[in-house]
Amino acid sequence: MDKILAPSILAADFMRLGEQIRTVRDAGAEYLHYDVMDGIFVPSISFGLPVLKSVRTGTDMFIDCHLMITEPYRYIGEFAKAGADSITVHVEACKEHGCAETIGLIREYGKKAAVSLNPGTPADEIAPFLDLVDMVLVMSVEPGFGGQKFIESTNGKVERLVELRSKKGLGFDIEVDGGVTADNLASIIDAGVNVIVSGSSIFKGDIEANVRHFKDVMNR
Ligand code: DX5
Ligand code: ZN
Repeated sequence: MDKILAPSILAADFMRLGEQIRTVRDAGAEYLHYDVMDGIFVPSISFGLPVLKSVRTGTDMFIDCHLMITEPYRYIGEFAKAGADSITVHVEACKEHGCAETIGLIREYGKKAAVSLNPGTPADEIAPFLDLVDMVLVMSVEPGFGGQKFIESTNGKVERLVELRSKKGLGFDIEVDGGVTADNLASIIDAGVNVIVSGSSIFKGDIEANVRHFKDVMNR
Protein backbone atom coordinates (compact mmCIF):
# COMPACT_ATOMS: atom_id res chain seq x y z
CA MET A 1 0.00 0.00 0.00
CA ASP A 2 1.13 3.56 -0.60
CA LYS A 3 2.88 5.09 2.37
CA ILE A 4 1.47 8.52 3.09
CA LEU A 5 2.66 11.27 5.40
CA ALA A 6 -0.02 13.61 6.78
CA PRO A 7 1.47 16.54 8.72
CA SER A 8 -1.04 17.87 11.25
CA ILE A 9 -1.28 21.64 10.93
CA LEU A 10 -2.47 21.81 14.54
CA ALA A 11 1.25 22.16 15.32
CA ALA A 12 1.95 24.77 12.63
CA ASP A 13 2.73 28.44 13.22
CA PHE A 14 -0.56 30.03 12.15
CA MET A 15 1.09 33.33 11.33
CA ARG A 16 3.04 31.42 8.66
CA LEU A 17 0.51 28.74 7.76
CA GLY A 18 0.62 29.12 3.96
CA GLU A 19 4.40 29.05 3.87
CA GLN A 20 4.59 25.99 6.15
CA ILE A 21 2.04 24.10 4.05
CA ARG A 22 4.16 24.78 0.95
CA THR A 23 7.23 23.55 2.82
CA VAL A 24 5.71 20.19 3.83
CA ARG A 25 4.32 19.69 0.32
CA ASP A 26 7.59 20.51 -1.44
CA ALA A 27 9.47 18.20 0.93
CA GLY A 28 7.24 15.26 -0.06
CA ALA A 29 4.25 15.08 2.32
CA GLU A 30 1.11 13.84 0.54
CA TYR A 31 -1.77 14.74 2.87
CA LEU A 32 -2.55 17.65 5.15
CA HIS A 33 -4.15 16.51 8.40
CA TYR A 34 -6.79 18.99 9.57
CA ASP A 35 -7.90 18.55 13.21
CA VAL A 36 -11.31 19.94 14.13
CA MET A 37 -12.15 20.05 17.86
CA ASP A 38 -15.42 21.22 19.34
CA GLY A 39 -14.72 21.52 23.07
CA ILE A 40 -17.33 18.81 23.75
CA PHE A 41 -16.15 15.56 22.21
CA VAL A 42 -12.65 16.66 23.25
CA PRO A 43 -11.75 19.29 25.86
CA SER A 44 -10.08 21.68 23.43
CA ILE A 45 -11.22 23.86 20.51
CA SER A 46 -9.05 24.16 17.40
CA PHE A 47 -10.28 25.63 14.12
CA GLY A 48 -13.18 24.98 11.77
CA LEU A 49 -14.75 25.94 8.48
CA PRO A 50 -13.31 29.40 7.63
CA VAL A 51 -9.71 28.24 8.07
CA LEU A 52 -10.42 25.13 5.99
CA LYS A 53 -11.81 27.32 3.19
CA SER A 54 -8.62 29.41 3.18
CA VAL A 55 -6.36 26.38 3.24
CA ARG A 56 -8.37 24.87 0.36
CA THR A 57 -7.86 27.98 -1.75
CA GLY A 58 -4.15 28.00 -1.03
CA THR A 59 -3.13 24.39 -1.68
CA ASP A 60 -3.83 21.41 -3.93
CA MET A 61 -2.77 18.94 -1.23
CA PHE A 62 -5.20 16.20 -0.21
CA ILE A 63 -6.96 17.45 2.94
CA ASP A 64 -7.54 14.71 5.53
CA CYS A 65 -10.14 16.24 7.82
CA HIS A 66 -10.31 14.67 11.30
CA LEU A 67 -13.56 15.63 13.01
CA MET A 68 -13.20 15.37 16.79
CA ILE A 69 -16.73 16.65 17.23
CA THR A 70 -19.89 15.22 18.72
CA GLU A 71 -22.63 14.15 16.26
CA PRO A 72 -20.45 14.82 13.18
CA TYR A 73 -23.44 14.09 10.89
CA ARG A 74 -24.56 17.69 11.46
CA TYR A 75 -21.44 19.12 9.81
CA ILE A 76 -20.50 16.66 7.05
CA GLY A 77 -22.02 18.82 4.31
CA GLU A 78 -20.26 21.96 5.44
CA PHE A 79 -16.83 20.36 5.75
CA ALA A 80 -17.27 18.65 2.39
CA LYS A 81 -18.19 21.97 0.74
CA ALA A 82 -15.37 23.80 2.50
CA GLY A 83 -12.84 21.56 0.76
CA ALA A 84 -12.10 18.37 2.69
CA ASP A 85 -11.01 15.46 0.48
CA SER A 86 -11.48 12.87 3.18
CA ILE A 87 -13.60 13.10 6.32
CA THR A 88 -12.93 11.06 9.45
CA VAL A 89 -15.55 10.63 12.15
CA HIS A 90 -15.19 9.02 15.57
CA VAL A 91 -17.21 5.89 16.28
CA GLU A 92 -17.69 7.22 19.85
CA ALA A 93 -19.20 10.48 18.54
CA CYS A 94 -21.88 9.11 16.21
CA LYS A 95 -24.91 8.57 18.43
CA GLU A 96 -28.17 10.00 17.12
CA HIS A 97 -27.05 9.38 13.55
CA GLY A 98 -25.02 6.17 13.64
CA CYS A 99 -21.66 5.55 12.09
CA ALA A 100 -22.96 3.83 8.95
CA GLU A 101 -25.42 6.65 8.28
CA THR A 102 -22.72 9.29 8.81
CA ILE A 103 -20.29 7.49 6.50
CA GLY A 104 -23.11 7.25 3.93
CA LEU A 105 -23.53 11.02 4.04
CA ILE A 106 -19.78 11.56 3.49
CA ARG A 107 -20.08 9.34 0.39
CA GLU A 108 -23.09 11.33 -0.86
CA TYR A 109 -20.77 14.34 -1.01
CA GLY A 110 -18.27 12.27 -3.00
CA LYS A 111 -15.58 12.36 -0.33
CA LYS A 112 -13.36 9.62 1.06
CA ALA A 113 -14.65 8.33 4.37
CA ALA A 114 -12.81 7.17 7.47
CA VAL A 115 -13.74 6.03 10.94
CA SER A 116 -11.61 6.64 14.02
CA LEU A 117 -11.40 5.02 17.40
CA ASN A 118 -10.04 6.31 20.69
CA PRO A 119 -7.32 4.46 22.62
CA GLY A 120 -9.93 2.92 24.94
CA THR A 121 -12.15 1.59 22.13
CA PRO A 122 -11.41 -1.99 21.01
CA ALA A 123 -10.73 -2.59 17.31
CA ASP A 124 -13.64 -5.01 17.07
CA GLU A 125 -16.09 -2.20 17.81
CA ILE A 126 -15.59 -0.80 14.32
CA ALA A 127 -15.71 -4.22 12.61
CA PRO A 128 -19.25 -3.60 11.26
CA PHE A 129 -18.11 -0.45 9.44
CA LEU A 130 -14.88 -1.70 7.90
CA ASP A 131 -16.42 -2.50 4.53
CA LEU A 132 -17.80 1.06 4.32
CA VAL A 133 -14.61 3.05 4.76
CA ASP A 134 -11.48 4.00 2.83
CA MET A 135 -9.43 4.37 5.98
CA VAL A 136 -9.39 3.59 9.70
CA LEU A 137 -7.75 6.17 11.98
CA VAL A 138 -6.34 4.63 15.13
CA MET A 139 -5.78 7.25 17.85
CA SER A 140 -2.47 6.62 19.58
CA VAL A 141 -3.13 9.37 22.19
CA GLU A 142 -6.35 10.60 23.80
CA PRO A 143 -7.67 13.02 21.17
CA GLY A 144 -7.68 16.71 22.00
CA PHE A 145 -4.09 17.89 22.13
CA GLY A 146 -0.88 17.66 20.14
CA GLY A 147 2.45 16.81 21.70
CA GLN A 148 1.38 13.82 23.82
CA LYS A 149 3.20 10.54 24.28
CA PHE A 150 2.44 7.59 21.97
CA ILE A 151 0.40 4.84 23.68
CA GLU A 152 2.32 1.61 23.10
CA SER A 153 -0.73 -0.69 22.93
CA THR A 154 -1.67 1.02 19.64
CA ASN A 155 0.51 -1.31 17.57
CA GLY A 156 -1.42 -4.35 18.83
CA LYS A 157 -4.66 -2.70 17.76
CA VAL A 158 -3.17 -1.99 14.32
CA GLU A 159 -2.18 -5.64 13.98
CA ARG A 160 -5.75 -6.68 14.84
CA LEU A 161 -7.07 -4.35 12.11
CA VAL A 162 -4.63 -5.80 9.59
CA GLU A 163 -5.97 -9.24 10.52
CA LEU A 164 -9.63 -8.14 10.17
CA ARG A 165 -8.81 -6.48 6.83
CA SER A 166 -7.35 -9.64 5.34
CA LYS A 167 -10.09 -11.88 6.80
CA LYS A 168 -12.73 -9.69 5.19
CA GLY A 169 -10.75 -9.22 1.97
CA LEU A 170 -10.82 -5.41 2.30
CA GLY A 171 -8.34 -2.72 1.29
CA PHE A 172 -8.77 0.22 3.68
CA ASP A 173 -5.78 2.32 4.73
CA ILE A 174 -4.67 2.33 8.36
CA GLU A 175 -3.70 5.70 9.80
CA VAL A 176 -2.18 6.41 13.21
CA ASP A 177 -2.45 9.79 14.92
CA GLY A 178 -0.70 11.09 18.04
CA GLY A 179 2.79 10.96 19.48
CA VAL A 180 4.52 9.71 16.34
CA THR A 181 8.22 10.61 16.39
CA ALA A 182 11.26 9.82 14.26
CA ASP A 183 12.14 7.23 16.93
CA ASN A 184 8.91 5.20 17.06
CA LEU A 185 7.95 5.63 13.40
CA ALA A 186 9.62 2.44 12.12
CA SER A 187 7.83 0.19 14.62
CA ILE A 188 4.47 1.79 13.75
CA ILE A 189 5.04 1.15 10.04
CA ASP A 190 6.10 -2.44 10.83
CA ALA A 191 2.81 -2.99 12.68
CA GLY A 192 0.96 -2.28 9.40
CA VAL A 193 0.21 1.45 9.32
CA ASN A 194 0.48 3.16 5.93
CA VAL A 195 -0.79 6.68 6.72
CA ILE A 196 1.18 8.57 9.34
CA VAL A 197 -0.08 11.73 11.04
CA SER A 198 2.44 13.88 12.84
CA GLY A 199 2.19 17.36 14.29
CA SER A 200 4.96 18.36 16.69
CA SER A 201 7.63 16.09 15.20
CA ILE A 202 7.12 17.71 11.81
CA PHE A 203 6.54 21.38 12.68
CA LYS A 204 9.14 21.77 15.45
CA GLY A 205 12.61 22.64 14.17
CA ASP A 206 13.54 22.21 10.52
CA ILE A 207 10.23 21.30 8.85
CA GLU A 208 11.73 20.33 5.51
CA ALA A 209 14.34 18.06 7.10
CA ASN A 210 11.71 16.48 9.36
CA VAL A 211 9.46 15.62 6.42
CA ARG A 212 12.35 14.18 4.42
CA HIS A 213 13.51 12.11 7.37
CA PHE A 214 10.00 10.76 8.04
CA LYS A 215 9.59 9.83 4.36
CA ASP A 216 12.99 8.06 4.35
CA VAL A 217 12.09 5.97 7.39
CA MET A 218 8.63 5.20 5.96
CA ASN A 219 10.03 3.97 2.66
CA ARG A 220 12.91 1.95 4.11
C1 DX5 B 1 -4.76 15.04 18.54
C2 DX5 B 1 -4.83 15.31 17.05
C3 DX5 B 1 -3.55 15.03 16.35
C4 DX5 B 1 -2.40 15.91 16.77
C5 DX5 B 1 -1.16 15.09 16.68
O1 DX5 B 1 -6.01 15.05 19.09
O2 DX5 B 1 -5.82 14.49 16.46
O3 DX5 B 1 -3.71 15.05 14.94
O4 DX5 B 1 -2.27 17.05 15.97
O5 DX5 B 1 -0.10 15.81 17.21
P1 DX5 B 1 1.28 15.15 17.65
O6 DX5 B 1 1.88 14.51 16.45
O7 DX5 B 1 2.03 16.30 18.16
O8 DX5 B 1 0.96 14.13 18.73
ZN1 ZN C 1 -5.86 14.25 14.19
